[in-house]
Amino acid sequence: AETLGTAAAQSGRYFGAAVAPHLGETDYESTLNREFSSVVAENAMKWDATEPSPGQFNFSGGDELVAYAKQRGKFVRGHTLVWHAQQPGWVQGLTGDTLRQAMRNHITKVAGHYAGKIDSWDVVNEAFEGDGSRRQSNLQKQLGNGWIEDAFRTARAADPKAKLCYNDYGTDGINAKSDAIYRMVQDFRARGVPIDCVGFQSHLASNSDLSTYRQNLQRFADLGVHVQITELDVGGSGAAQANVYRQVTQACMAVARCNGITVWGVTDKYSWRAQETPLLFNGNYQKKEAYGAVLAALNSA
Ligand code: G3I
Repeated sequence: AETLGTAAAQSGRYFGAAVAPHLGETDYESTLNREFSSVVAENAMKWDATEPSPGQFNFSGGDELVAYAKQRGKFVRGHTLVWHAQQPGWVQGLTGDTLRQAMRNHITKVAGHYAGKIDSWDVVNEAFEGDGSRRQSNLQKQLGNGWIEDAFRTARAADPKAKLCYNDYGTDGINAKSDAIYRMVQDFRARGVPIDCVGFQSHLASNSDLSTYRQNLQRFADLGVHVQITELDVGGSGAAQANVYRQVTQACMAVARCNGITVWGVTDKYSWRAQETPLLFNGNYQKKEAYGAVLAALNSA
């Protein structure tokens, strides 16, 4: 197959991109249309964007993206219902049960608004530290360990069809952080807390150690959840960058429950890491060496 999306589809997978509001730029839109079978909003579905003041919801950016995707038969990932960052100011000072109710209401309203349209939701994003401890966010400090399962149960009630994911970075192999997340997912599965997938952001560098990357995906898959590469980008250029992209793609292809890969942007020029040129298309929308490596890996299923 000649595009990322059609190549991934040969094995029942999607290949997606994070989208920021550049729809309307001809080359951006044509590249997105042609190559990608899934989209995720880079910012538009986050808490600060969707509920800027308490109970006042703004779905405009997300609605635009969902409409765009549905018209073209693309999947939509939802990102993200609860995160310590990009919370609106009014949430940051809440305490105790007020915060709990605000979190539940936010999840209920946002997941409810998009119910039936989202393939997978990042319900909770980045709740662990590198040493495997819980991040001491306002949610953790105010609500204790139970807030994550509370978020998942609330999301399931609001959108019973979406796959519900836990999403994090620095989980690109077997390490203290991925061990801690593994134990949480194992516990959730054992107790019937609704979790369906784990997202591995995979913000990488050309010298990232990927020696246990596939093995790590596989152990999560063996818990019965899907695994997804959710925010892939790789700083660097040329063969070294292409090689990391190839390894990540091959790892996903080797794990039956790895059902999709998303890169964190379409073109280097709009990347949050623009100076590191981490994506598959350069600023002129030309295919980079990494593009060829990914396409070949998707086609060799
Ligand atoms: O929308 C405002 C705009 O009104 C204002 O004029 C401008 C001035 O700074 O800022 C704009 O907001 C920025 C927003 O991106 C949209 O461009 C924020 O400052 C900026 O912080 C925000 O950065 C985003 C970042 O998350 C925030 O933490 C990046 O675009 C986005 O790529 C990044 O994505 C995260 C994932 O959600 C989670 N995993 C890590 C990943 C990379 O950090």
